[in-house]
Amino acid sequence: MTAIIHVLPTAEAMASAAAGFVAALAAEACRTRGRFAVALSGGATPGPLYEKLASPPHAGPLAWEGWQVYWSDERCVPPDDPGSNYGLARRTLLDRVRIPQGNVHRIRGEETPETAAAEYEQEVRGVSPDAVPGFDLILLGLGDDGHTASLFPGSDALLEKYRLVVANRIPGEDERRITFTLPLINAARVVAFLADGEAKAAAVQQVLQPAPGAAPLPAAGVRPRSGSLHWFLTAAAASRLDTDGGQV
Ligand code: 6PG
Repeated sequence: MTAIIHVLPTAEAMASAAAGFVAALAAEACRTRGRFAVALSGGATPGPLYEKLASPPHAGPLAWEGWQVYWSDERCVPPDDPGSNYGLARRTLLDRVRIPQGNVHRIRGEETPETAAAEYEQEVRGVSPDAVPGFDLILLGLGDDGHTASLFPGSDALLEKYRLVVANRIPGEDERRITFTLPLINAARVVAFLADGEAKAAAVQQVLQPAPGAAPLPAAGVRPRSGSLHWFLTAAAASRLDTDGGQV
């Protein structure tokens, strides 16, 4: 698996490049397959990307009615909670473009975690008839500790081999989250990470250029079986990488 690395000078440039990338994938998917099944990432990094997708030059030409919008993870909070990943996407994208309400597949963070995970696994199965549904695109972020979605170091969800969506505990904390598992993430046509900031540089290096014998970080488990893997990084996040020709 060769990851394609896109290094941009600033967060603004990264959001612009990622928006062009997502818009092109969406246009191709809607044209050739009649729909674009995308799982959005949470956290703060993707907000500017979502805003750019909802603005010119992307918003007008995109076939929003073909978008099927999901989330790769969610906090166990109601949709109006400031920490809700759904809420972030609603403010920055969904309230600004014409995606049919029935095409927005929110993780019901207000339910009990196990119920929310079981319900969402059934919802995700609507993406395709395959045993493990293949998203057109899964967007992911990266934590300073190398977590992605809500797959935290040392957490049980990292070991999941069969279920597609699980409730996961953040080690050492009471907080629970609902997350895609690696089998589901790795079935995607395209997976794209976005990471910005010096604070992520060590994790980026350890995921993409691990030291011999180092324990793999959760994000290193993202290796699409037949799809492509892209990393959109700011120069700060990529500052510890030794990139040779944009591929690692
Ligand atoms: C979440 C995300 C999580 C996030 C990383 C990076 O629900 O918070 O799924 O995996 O992508 O923690 O977060 P930032 O973009 O805020 O740095």
